[in-house]
Amino acid sequence: MDRVTAQERDDIAKRKSDHIKIAVHEDVEYRITTWLEYVIMPHSPIPEVDYSAISTERTFLDRRFGAPIVIEGMTGGTEEGMRINGNLAIVAEKYNIPMGIGSQRIAISNPQTAGTFRIARELGPHVFLMANIGATQLIQRGVEFAWQAVKMIDANALVVHLNPLQELIQPRGDTAFSGLLSKLREVVREIGTHVIVKEVGCGFTYSAAMKLWEIGVDALDVAGAGGTNWTEIERLRALEAGAVDKAELAETYREWGIPTAASVLEVAEIEGLEMIASGGVKSGLDVAKLLCLGAEMVGLARPFLKAAVESDAAVERLLKKLISEVKAAAFLTGSSSMDQLARVKPVIFGPLKEWYVQRVSRSRS
Ligand SMILES: Cc1cc2nc3c(=O)[nH]c(=O)nc-3n(C[C@H](O)[C@H](O)[C@H](O)COP(=O)(O)O)c2cc1C
Repeated sequence: MDRVTAQERDDIAKRKSDHIKIAVHEDVEYRITTWLEYVIMPHSPIPEVDYSAISTERTFLDRRFGAPIVIEGMTGGTEEGMRINGNLAIVAEKYNIPMGIGSQRIAISNPQTAGTFRIARELGPHVFLMANIGATQLIQRGVEFAWQAVKMIDANALVVHLNPLQELIQPRGDTAFSGLLSKLREVVREIGTHVIVKEVGCGFTYSAAMKLWEIGVDALDVAGAGGTNWTEIERLRALEAGAVDKAELAETYREWGIPTAASVLEVAEIEGLEMIASGGVKSGLDVAKLLCLGAEMVGLARPFLKAAVESDAAVERLLKKLISEVKAAAFLTGSSSMDQLARVKPVIFGPLKEWYVQRVSRSRS
C-alpha cells in the first residue's frame, strides 16, 4: 500500500536534486581524512612481472569482475538522475564492474519515476546491479518493499543503507531504527538474492559488522569517513529550510565517523564476510591500499557523480585512470593479479596503528 502523500513525493524529488546540486558544486568533504595516508605499501625494485600481463580481475559475491572497482549507489527519481544512471551504466557494462543506484523509495511510491532507475538495466543489461533501500523504509514496510526494489531493476543484489546520523540532521528525518536487525534477518531469509548492508559515510565497527554477519548478510559496504560528508550536505539543506536547531547539531557532529581505513581494518577481522571499502577513495593507489587492508572491492561515489553529470566519456576516463593506477601499484609490488596485490602486507602507522592496537588486535583476544 502506498503510504506516501503527494507532498512527501515532491519533498523526496526536491531532496534528490538538492543532493546532486550540493554534492557537485559545494565543498562537502570531511575535514578528517580516510587515514589512507597512514598506509604504506612496500616498493619492490624487482617486480618480476610484465606490466602488460597484469590482470585487474577480481571476484566478489561469486562473480568475476573486470576491475576491483564499484560505482556506488547515488541517484534516480529525477530526469537528471536518469541521465547520470545511464552514463554510469554504459561504462559499468563496458568494463564489467558492479553499479549501485540511489534509494528507490521515490519510485516505489511513484511508479512513474521507475524508469529513472530502470535505465541502468536497459543500458547495462549484463551489469551486476544493486538495488537500494533505506533501513527505516525496511523497518516500516518490510520484505515486500525490498522485493519491489529488486524487481524494478532486475537487481543482482539488494543494498540496505544505514544512515542514522543523516536522518538525525535531515529536516523531517526518520530516526526510528529499532527492530532493524530482525527485519534484516527476514530479508536475508526471504529475498533470494545477495544482501549487502552499507553506511553512507560513517563506517562500521567490528561488533556492528559481526551482528550483520551473524544474521546472514553477504557483504558490507563500509562507506567510512574521509570523503563525502552527509552531515555537511544536510546542514546546508537545514540552513536553507530555516531549521536552525538541525544545522547546529550538524555543526557539532560534522566530523563524526570512523575513518575509512580504520573501519576496513575492523570489518576485515570477520573471515568470510565480503567487503566493499568506500568513503573518500580518490585514486587507484587508494584502491590498492584498501585491497591490502582486506577489502574485496573498492567503491567511489562523488568522483563518479562529477564525471557522470558531464558524460559517459568522462566516466570512462575516470575509470581508466583508476584502473591504470591500481595496475601500477600491482606492478610496483611485484603482483601479477589483484588477488596477489591484496596479499601484499602494508605498513600502518600513526593514528591508524593506534586504532588497530586499541581496538582491532583486542577483538582477537
Ligand atoms: C549525490 C549522492 C547521493 C547519494 N545517495 C545515496 C543513496 O540514495 N543510497 C545510498 O546507499 N548511498 C547514497 N550515497 C552515498 C554513497 O553511496 C557513498 O556511500 C558516500 O557518498 C561515500 O562515498 P564517496 O566519499 O566516494 O562519495 C550518495 C552519495 C552522493 C554523492
